[in-house]
Amino acid sequence: MTSPLAVLVGPPGVGKTSVARILADRTGTTARDTDEDIVRITGRSVVRIFAEQGEPHFRSLEHEVAAAALREHSGVVALGGGAVVHPGTRAALRGLPVVFLDAALGDVRDRLRGNGSRPLLRENFSEQWLELMSVRRPLYLSVARSVVSTHGRTPGQVADAVLAAL
Ligand code: S3P
Repeated sequence: MTSPLAVLVGPPGVGKTSVARILADRTGTTARDTDEDIVRITGRSVVRIFAEQGEPHFRSLEHEVAAAALREHSGVVALGGGAVVHPGTRAALRGLPVVFLDAALGDVRDRLRGNGSRPLLRENFSEQWLELMSVRRPLYLSVARSVVSTHGRTPGQVADAVLAAL
């Protein structure tokens, strides 16, 4: 049975995808990203799946894709920011080296605001992000073995901190 070297969780905009690639590079493994898997498998963008089939459909698709990645991948897995809301995904994370990449609103605001790529963060960005984090922070903490702050760090520095925390 394989299990991932590291699993990254955390809200949109913390750089999970970039950090996963750097980590994979540094550990001689590969990175797998659930959003990318979903786009490849469905041939649709995340924004389009949300718009045409709704969030519950996206979440169940995301759960299947996440469970498969956690079962099959021996490198680094980056989960979409909302994957932890699915109880089955939280269960699948048990016992794995899960790292919560934490950020404050100010760290992600400029990067994400107005770029339209995150369906749940389109209007009133700051309000929506804070609300999302008030629901999700306890979930990220409940699955994480370690917490790494991204504040003031480049993706490379975050990757170093993750390696030190593993
Ligand atoms: C989402 C985060 C996104 C993507 C989708 C929903 C969320 O992934 O799965 O837009 O609910 O937080 P990233 O965290 O990689 O941006």
